[in-house]
Amino acid sequence: MPRVSIQDANKSFDVNEGEILYDSLFDRGHELPHGCLAGSCGACRIEVIEGKDSLQAPSVIEKNTIEAIKDEYVKKYGEAAVAGKEIRLSCRAKVTGNVTIRPFK
Ligand code: FES
Repeated sequence: MPRVSIQDANKSFDVNEGEILYDSLFDRGHELPHGCLAGSCGACRIEVIEGKDSLQAPSVIEKNTIEAIKDEYVKKYGEAAVAGKEIRLSCRAKVTGNVTIRPFK
């Protein structure tokens, strides 16, 4: 059973493999920031601190939204704001193993 840890909240939850990250935490009483829950607004963006390979590869819609988020951050804050960071959408990413995340602000 995969374990999802939320770094800035100091909480961890055991979830079912294949669950959508946002849903898995919501069902266990932890609500992450969110908006559309459909992969297009980017409000549910997270940074994967550990275990980036423990999330299923992003779909086209998730990839496109992440690229738009990265472009926005680079314009506002410069390349260093996103360099080397694994950004995903919690409303789209499916959990396949242990992962540590935090909301990406
Ligand atoms: S909540 Fe809108 S993209 Fe995830």
